[in-house]
Amino acid sequence: MAVIADRCPGIQVTVVDLNAERIAAWNDTDLGRLPVYEPGLDQVVGRARGRNLHFSTEVDAAIAKADMVFLSVNTPTKTRGVGAGQASDLRWIEASARQVAAASQGHTIVVEKSTLPVRTAEAVKSILSAAQGNAGGSKSFSVLSNPEFLAEGSAIGDLEDPDRVLIGGEDPEAIEALAGVYGHWVPTERILRTNLWSSELSKLTANAFLAQRISSINAIASLCEATGADVREVARAIGSDSRIGAKFLQAGPGFGGSCFQKDILNLVYLCRHYGLEEAAVYWEQVVSLNTWQQQRIARLVVNSLFGTVTGKRLAVLGFAFKADTNDTREAPAIRICRDLIEEGAQLAIVDPKVEPSQIATDLGMEALDPNGRVGLGGDGGWSAVATPEEAARGADAVLILTEWEAYRHLDWQAIAAVMRQPAWLFDARAVADAEAARAAGLNVWRVGEG
Ligand code: UGA
Repeated sequence: MAVIADRCPGIQVTVVDLNAERIAAWNDTDLGRLPVYEPGLDQVVGRARGRNLHFSTEVDAAIAKADMVFLSVNTPTKTRGVGAGQASDLRWIEASARQVAAASQGHTIVVEKSTLPVRTAEAVKSILSAAQGNAGGSKSFSVLSNPEFLAEGSAIGDLEDPDRVLIGGEDPEAIEALAGVYGHWVPTERILRTNLWSSELSKLTANAFLAQRISSINAIASLCEATGADVREVARAIGSDSRIGAKFLQAGPGFGGSCFQKDILNLVYLCRHYGLEEAAVYWEQVVSLNTWQQQRIARLVVNSLFGTVTGKRLAVLGFAFKADTNDTREAPAIRICRDLIEEGAQLAIVDPKVEPSQIATDLGMEALDPNGRVGLGGDGGWSAVATPEEAARGADAVLILTEWEAYRHLDWQAIAAVMRQPAWLFDARAVADAEAARAAGLNVWRVGEG
């Protein structure tokens, strides 16, 4: 919405939320304190806020004035009831549709921006058409699907120069109205129009294909480690085939983020719902392989450290699910750290953007005193530290779990000097200077390197 406001000064954009604290944070005069860390977002908000970008808790008033309403609420995986663990929880979408139905005036174009299961538009439409019927002609609606393809960390660039914008719908006038908004900065040929169901399904499919590439390369990484091949050489060799392409072939600790796993499980649920068991099992494997990759990394750390990490200090560099974000949802670091804590390790965790309170929530336990030692009899635990060097002090191993730029330029002589020997570097992102680490006397494991 900030980018739309920035690119379309003639359009008034109001972002509304029931959460007053969050709206206040979006209105904070200190742009460094916006609730989401995303490179470049502060500048975009700084340019548009107060001009044609507004953040407000007055939800009904904003709906009443709007020609177009974007439903951008979250749709997490259901945790209970039918479809628990796989289907999307649509309660917020339904509540929003009902609120739009009640508060709107005149003709309103309702745009599904959240990632939704196929045929959700049907439910949204029927809620809206009930309201239309009761309003005696004073209100009407068109429903569009306009899924978002931005990735975190590169969101502003992805929005300003998208590969494509997808608009699904049945009402040609509504489709052209939304295409007109994007038309302010997106070339016409990149604005694709489809029917509602194709648009909803394309979003799930795009994420499923991307995640599948990661599980595929991680499966090959494990084989590389076993055979002496190098997954980066393999990735380069296959990525040069223009049919395969070079992107998204980076082996690592598995995919995280709020979308890939959720969207695939949703796809699996839909396949099962329509009786397509083989298709469901096929996509389910992408998630199973991802979980296995994370467990495998935790296990190989333990095995390399003489089969036990109880009472040992391990430095964990990076907790976010990828670089350039403070988002930790489904971060591979969560499962890997939990497994190591379960084995009795004492983790010293550092991340340039993730708050210690978030790490505590994700790991389900409070931090220990950073200077305390657990000892051989103690349970595992974790503490937050400020720098990689501090994390490494007294540690038997350094684990790199997020590919922050700074981790490419670490001073391995200095780090090795404060570690307990024999010491290890486990580089699950293959970003560190492995030669320098080896030269400093460390044992080095890199993902996908045999
Ligand atoms: C992903 C998609 O890339 C976006 O197109 C989509 O809009 C978004 O989900 C969404 O549905 O909202 P995002 O989760 O922000 O975006 O981040 P990605 O860059 O796709 O990375 C996802 C995970 O895969 C990260 O943990 C990343 O480290 C990992 N990854 C990515 C790899 O392990 N290897 C790669 O080669 C690429």
